[in-house]
Amino acid sequence: MKKYIIANWKCNPVTLKEAKNIYSSVKKKSKVIKNTEVVICPPYIYLTELLKNKSKISIGAENGYFEEKGAFTGEISLNMLKFLGCKYIIIGHSERRNLFGENDDIVNKKLKVSLSLKLNPVFCFGENFEQNQKGKTFKILEDQIKKGIDGISKKLAMSLIFAYEPIWAIGTGKSCDADRLEEIYIFIRKILTKKYGRKIADKISILYGGSVNSENILSYMQQINISGVLVGGASLNPEEFIKIIKRVEKNY
Ligand code: PGA
Repeated sequence: MKKYIIANWKCNPVTLKEAKNIYSSVKKKSKVIKNTEVVICPPYIYLTELLKNKSKISIGAENGYFEEKGAFTGEISLNMLKFLGCKYIIIGHSERRNLFGENDDIVNKKLKVSLSLKLNPVFCFGENFEQNQKGKTFKILEDQIKKGIDGISKKLAMSLIFAYEPIWAIGTGKSCDADRLEEIYIFIRKILTKKYGRKIADKISILYGGSVNSENILSYMQQINISGVLVGGASLNPEEFIKIIKRVEKNY
């Protein structure tokens, strides 16, 4: 199965010049990309510029609105992103959920519209620190996953890219350890098997995100059959990001 390395730039960098520099530094080394699908998701305003480039790096967006068009001041629709040339879309990131009030129902709508547009959705979910400490992780994940994929058919489910992102690991430097991640992967596959059957569930990609760097990527690649990673902070440093790509490529 194809491995994904998805860069989530979040609300960074501040200038177009910096965005172009980061992108071109990664592009310069893109001959190392052979089997992986490398995706950069920048802020909306840099999309047009980055999409002008022809390279092995795919471009995605960090969010999108489910209505096609209309009186929704400040929103960018999933349709617009598709027509612009985006190939991927991050949906349900915990920062969207917690800072901008996106609930499971909105996430579900966005996933359905993205799938109908063939705009490959990266569906994020994960527990926070408190839930983790109280032993509620599995319950929270099951709830978020079930609500997120409600009404999504078997056929479409195969195009979903799942991304487990524990909130306590995002931007904290405390990544999930490989043993724990392995347990969580088994649990997620179980939920997907119950809903879609073994054959489909085994074909669905599940990524990990949360303080991924060029060091911890090794244990994830070697210990777990991880489908890839979602990288925040480390993706803004081109050298570190290239290192991650190289290590994923080497451990196929
Ligand atoms: P991080 O962010 O790599 O900076 O922890 C990951 C994410 O939020 O997707």
